[in-house]
Amino acid sequence: MCGIFAYLNYRVPRTRREIFETLVKGLQRLEYRGYDSAGVAVDDASKDAKDDNNSISLIKKKGKVKALDEELHKKNLMNLDVELDTHFGIAHTRWATHGEPSAVNSHPHRSDKDNEFVVIHNGIITNYKELRKYLTSKGYEFESETDTEVIPKLIKYLYDNRESTYVSFSTLVERVIQQLEGAFALVFKSIHFPGEAVATRRGSPLLIGVRSKYELSTEEIPILYNNGHYKEGVEERNFRNRVDSSSALHSVCDGKAVEYYFASDASAIIEHTNKVIYLEDDDIAAVAEGKLSLHRMSRGAGEDPVRAIQTLQMELQQIMKGNFKAFMQKEIFEQPESVYNTMRGRICFDTNTVVLGGLKDHLKEIKRCRRLIMIGCGTSFHAAVATRQILEELTELPVMVELASDFLDRITPVFRDDVCFFISQSGETADTLMALRYCKDRGALTVGVTNTVGSSISRETDCGVHINAGPEIGVASTKAYTSQFVALIMFGLMMSEDRISQQKRRMEIINGLRTLPEMIKNVLALDDQIKNIADELYQQKSLLVMGRGFNYATCLEGALKIKEITYMHSEGILAGELKHGPLALIDKHMPVIMVIVRDACYTKCHNALQQVTARQGRPIILCCQDDPEIVKNAYKTIELPQTVDCLQGILSVIPLQLMSFHLAVLRGYDVDCPRNLAKSVTVE
Ligand code: F6R
Repeated sequence: MCGIFAYLNYRVPRTRREIFETLVKGLQRLEYRGYDSAGVAVDDASKDAKDDNNSISLIKKKGKVKALDEELHKKNLMNLDVELDTHFGIAHTRWATHGEPSAVNSHPHRSDKDNEFVVIHNGIITNYKELRKYLTSKGYEFESETDTEVIPKLIKYLYDNRESTYVSFSTLVERVIQQLEGAFALVFKSIHFPGEAVATRRGSPLLIGVRSKYELSTEEIPILYNNGHYKEGVEERNFRNRVDSSSALHSVCDGKAVEYYFASDASAIIEHTNKVIYLEDDDIAAVAEGKLSLHRMSRGAGEDPVRAIQTLQMELQQIMKGNFKAFMQKEIFEQPESVYNTMRGRICFDTNTVVLGGLKDHLKEIKRCRRLIMIGCGTSFHAAVATRQILEELTELPVMVELASDFLDRITPVFRDDVCFFISQSGETADTLMALRYCKDRGALTVGVTNTVGSSISRETDCGVHINAGPEIGVASTKAYTSQFVALIMFGLMMSEDRISQQKRRMEIINGLRTLPEMIKNVLALDDQIKNIADELYQQKSLLVMGRGFNYATCLEGALKIKEITYMHSEGILAGELKHGPLALIDKHMPVIMVIVRDACYTKCHNALQQVTARQGRPIILCCQDDPEIVKNAYKTIELPQTVDCLQGILSVIPLQLMSFHLAVLRGYDVDCPRNLAKSVTVE
């Protein structure tokens, strides 16, 4: 949902080529967030850093980051070896919300033809129409159809109408965000503040990487509170003094060489530094003369007055494609390892115990709750559907599963004695985040299940579990699903540890988890067979996926994978509902995949199979190994190793992930960049 990246080098000489390369590489890492168009803003190419000429160059291009990169080469910008001691550049890759994908709608957006202020934005400004009307009445002319363009115009308006000659860049930005409604992560650059950067966020993620050859001795950065009452003039100066006297990284980088990286997520920063600061909503981060300071209007109750410099645990290699054709393919094949990492250090197979460190202090409270509500979107919602039944069984609590958007639309009643789980790979999905805030306001205990350390959901929930699947770059979620699945089951095991009646069941599941990575490897070995089936199916228009019980979620998730990357129509059908409508779709031409494994629903699934074959349907069946009865009735089978019923869905979804991948490749589509989609949907 748009990626923003910015790079500032202070007293670290870099050639213009290096600066462009850093910006382009940052965008490439964030491309999965949007790939409709891309752009950069840097100090004018003709300018030597020591000049007084502060003009800004804007280069924007429709299409992927590659198109922008080519444009930079074409314009010969990449070949400029002029060295800049200090420079600040901003860059953006867009997922269109307001206005079609085009160069003019691309970011950075500008205040005016002279590019006095330029800005990059991730999020949505919901009151942009009012602001646009107001600014138009003041004579500002808009060139794009975007919501974002009001921001650079507004900051110029505030600058032009300032009450005294001096106003700081961060003060201006603070005034801008006071007028904005919606969600945003923003980075500003201006010809009036050369070499300075200001970044802020509300509802959209933003972090800052810091790299200095001088050791970063400051572990915490104090926030400079403004208490909302300063004005320009005397108080403004006081404010500046305060900033100067306590500015956060003084002890570290004061006057020394330092580089800052601003990005929507850590994958764009990790190759430069592992020292990062996650901004909170309404933080304003300003860099001037190489010093970083963090400001807020006022301090809210219980708010942390410092931001910590954290060390990222991610490795660069984790975000590279290696020998795979696509990130999605790589991530599918990583599942033996990612699932193992979800369990690592948390399950003791000798004592049959499970400890989720992030939940253990809240376990008593969770056990006393009235019900569990699991909330998510898309694939993360499917992980909730997949584990609902086993959680009901192990916790003996009612478990509701909710799509975040619908949950909010219904203004669903939530009580203080509810425990609400927010499942999200990115930890930034706007609908899920809003549902979290909604439940918090109603006093429920909130639990995050995310893959992204430092994400909004993991920070705003009372407690939670990191699924530790490693970075997921492919837009279609795969390994996050299986790890969410495992994490939720581990939660059920933890809840049932002291229940005598559950011990046999618990042992069976824990044993199943122990052998799961090996079994996943066996399923992945079916890849060639699945590719052959894809060869037969790839020209079809539709593909139905049917099953029930523990495997209903497999059908929903398989169908989602197929539709999002192959653009074929696909539906996940509950086999129990077949005769209530979907049976009308079945004939000898309609491809149907059925999941029929040896569990409590086996006989019922068999009935559905009879109904399909009686209508000349030709089902491809995902079944357990050695099931001659199924083989006899199937057009084709994909035979899976058998595990515990509640874990079987982890094995049965993998052939569908592989199938969608092969279908997309055969149909000639870019697997990692499905049209109209983006990872991390940070708008409603
Ligand atoms: C599908 C997919 C999406 C996400 C959904 C929620 O492959 O990736 O359906 O699952 O947008 O995203 P997260 O889990 O980041 O909240």
